[in-house]
Amino acid sequence: MVLPAVLLGLDLGASKIVAVLALLDESGALNVTGASLASPEGGIWQGEINDMELTTRAINRAVEEAMRTAGQTRLEGIRVCVGGKQFKGENLRDSITISGADKVITPGDRDRVLDQATSNCKLAKEEQVLHRLPQMFHIKGQRDIRNPVNMVGESLEAEVRIIVAPAPVLGNIRRAMELSGLQGATLHYAPLASAEAVLSREDAENGAVVVDIGDQLTHLGVYLRGALFHSAVIPIGGMHFTRDLEITKHLGGISVAERIKRVYGTAIPSQVPPEEMIELEDEGRQVSRRELAEVLHARAVELLNMVLAEIGRSGLIHELHGGVHLVGGGSLLPHLPILAQNVLQRPRVLLGRVSGIQGLPQVTANPLYTNALGAVKSLARDLQESASKARGGDGLWGKFKNFF
Ligand SMILES: Nc1ncnc2c1ncn2[C@@H]1O[C@H](COP(=O)(O)OP(=O)(O)OP(=O)(O)O)[C@@H](O)[C@H]1O
Ligand SMILES: [Mg+2]
Repeated sequence: MVLPAVLLGLDLGASKIVAVLALLDESGALNVTGASLASPEGGIWQGEINDMELTTRAINRAVEEAMRTAGQTRLEGIRVCVGGKQFKGENLRDSITISGADKVITPGDRDRVLDQATSNCKLAKEEQVLHRLPQMFHIKGQRDIRNPVNMVGESLEAEVRIIVAPAPVLGNIRRAMELSGLQGATLHYAPLASAEAVLSREDAENGAVVVDIGDQLTHLGVYLRGALFHSAVIPIGGMHFTRDLEITKHLGGISVAERIKRVYGTAIPSQVPPEEMIELEDEGRQVSRRELAEVLHARAVELLNMVLAEIGRSGLIHELHGGVHLVGGGSLLPHLPILAQNVLQRPRVLLGRVSGIQGLPQVTANPLYTNALGAVKSLARDLQESASKARGGDGLWGKFKNFF
């Protein structure tokens, strides 16, 4: 690939389709040059496309507007975030004997042990492996190796996490890309994109959780030693908070409840004076702001307890020193991070901040763009890695060999 390259990141959410355009230059810097949002108008439900026409129309709108704002007409790489209630993850392991006489582990050995570990997964007929994510390698007498290539060992064991989804769900997303004229897009599991966007290298090393509270779903990923060790999808998102308000307080319809949630909502009732009332103009009556907060609080506690259960399931609860990073529109409910500190019993809960990507601060600092930015960032990293491999590596020798 020739640099500078124009990269497109997409996020297909239930409430909005996001397109971000960024320029990857020769120095490896990534600059956002255009971005846009478009509503899929119900075309996406819980991460899956349920109306191809509505979805492709929204993708086209978002991409065209992002290209227009960036003044770009070409695209060198496309990556799209995917997720949904049918995405599953599983940790697998297996080992092989190293056959070479010198017992040096080759890239082929690394691939072979990963293939073997992955083949231990019992897939349903319609399921497909979307990602095979190496976690750790072990050789007899030495554990927790990140990359075993060129090391010596009698045997090689691999731990890997795979992400699986129904082939039709993935196939329809690929088809939506093609119908929108976006050939060659790579699909990327949303919690990987969230982590790429907001976790520093140290956070992911020291153990961190990303929690993406979307409209209909919450995705989470648990990272340790730079690798994904647990992921999950919880069927609760911001929409459930809004619905609760409407069902219990009859605010005058979902769109009124949504507005009231965004303007007056909080996850901690005691942050609101008990006597404060909100005027419902269309209804001609008032409603207590504290009572609204109590409804939101109950749903937030339910969601956070489910997040806590998933963190527990990862078996890493005592190893997470890099904090819990909240992303997605649902995380914007005021005081949610403070409530999460209590429920999750973690001192470090923060709103995820995107790093390592410059340009348009109204995009890079806006949580609605987080996953699309993560998609672009991970694509840029993959492109740089494969370019470096094609050049024969950028190690010290790689840098100096041209001088000899
Ligand atoms: N200020 C706010 N306070 C509370 N909730 C908010 C706020 N702003 C947005 N939200 C909620 O964020 C949700 C949308 O989040 P997001 O844009 O991340 O979802 P999505 O990616 O479209 O959906 P999904 O990931 O579930 O497919 C909506 O339910 C909305 O009510
Ligand atoms: Mg989302």
